[in-house]
Amino acid sequence: MIAVCEILEKQELSRQDIIRLLSITDKGDQELLIKKAYSIKESTIGRKVYLRGLIEFSNYCRKNCYYCGIRSGNNKVARYSLSDDEILQVVEFAQKQQLKGIVLQSGELNRSDFTKRITALITKIKNAANPEFRITLSLGEQSLETYQRWFDAGAQRYLLRIETSNEDLYKKIHPADGLHSFKVRLRCLEDIQKTGYMTGTGVMIGLPFQTIENLTDDLLFIKERDIDMVGMGPYLEHADTPLYDHKDLLMPLMERFNLSIRMIAVLRIMMPDINIASTTALQSIFPLGRELGLKAGANVMMPNITPLKYRRSYLLYDNKPCIDEEADDCWDCLEKRIKMIGEEIVRNEYGDSKHFINRIQID
Ligand code: 5AD
Ligand code: SF4
Ligand code: FES
Repeated sequence: MIAVCEILEKQELSRQDIIRLLSITDKGDQELLIKKAYSIKESTIGRKVYLRGLIEFSNYCRKNCYYCGIRSGNNKVARYSLSDDEILQVVEFAQKQQLKGIVLQSGELNRSDFTKRITALITKIKNAANPEFRITLSLGEQSLETYQRWFDAGAQRYLLRIETSNEDLYKKIHPADGLHSFKVRLRCLEDIQKTGYMTGTGVMIGLPFQTIENLTDDLLFIKERDIDMVGMGPYLEHADTPLYDHKDLLMPLMERFNLSIRMIAVLRIMMPDINIASTTALQSIFPLGRELGLKAGANVMMPNITPLKYRRSYLLYDNKPCIDEEADDCWDCLEKRIKMIGEEIVRNEYGDSKHFINRIQID
């Protein structure tokens, strides 16, 4: 078997190399991998962290994904939706904290009253902040026209996780009801990219039935598709979801955590200039999880700035952190944590994905 240090010397990782790196069990080998990824991040991006304020503005969702706590079939969830004014107040808070952009996330809705509201909301936010203020949307599958309309209104980035790039696995974790099609999801991701957004995707790590080969193909998918931003984190079971029935198939939490860290590190080696988020799900397993994500090559954090009273209703998985801290507290806490690991929060740049900037220059 080829040694990890030898693989890390290579210019280009083969599929076999990626499988080998993701399969690391030796602590020393994992350290080597993380160090390599961090050195690449340091030389391409610096010891920098870009922050985006995450607003989970509504948990209404038309979908019923088997893994998700706010799926439409879960009637234990109190549904909420922030008003435009409430959202604008959060935007004001974000600006007070010198954030250069926000992420608007909600469950998936596609009725025209919703899509029209979002178009108007984007305009309102742009007017309240400034035209350069970055708006990232994470609002699921929409028509090309809708993506275009939101882009024209001023949103610059879009996140749509593919969840898994393997169609068979996709089918196992979603209902077969015509509303959860892998092909449609893929087409949406293409439409987002075509529209001109900085395009983000990602996967869940450690799903039941998922193999190391599946995860390897996920990383290759991200590279082949020329993705600009990635958010991926461990799958965390939620008791009120159908996938919970398969919890006996899951690897232990710390293993899921370490595998997620290796996914981030390998991706950083494969794609030195993209933005990679250190996700909240990492923090759910391990209190310093997001900081370790940064040490493994991630460069983005998305502090939750949703008003406290709604946070308990946006539980995609069990043990979600930061649901009892008001945004201000969470903010100070984050600042300290980032300093502690020798990284610096960037406040005077928008933090666009360098990969995106390079990509549009070539086009
Ligand atoms: N565990 C981890 N991540 C989850 N998501 C949804 N449910 C879970 C879960 N149980 C992720 C999905 C989705 C994002 C908003 O949250 O990847 O795209
Ligand atoms: Fe809805 Fe997204 Fe949850 Fe699926 S993962 S049920 S689309 S909020
Ligand atoms: Fe949320 Fe510390 S980051 S409480």
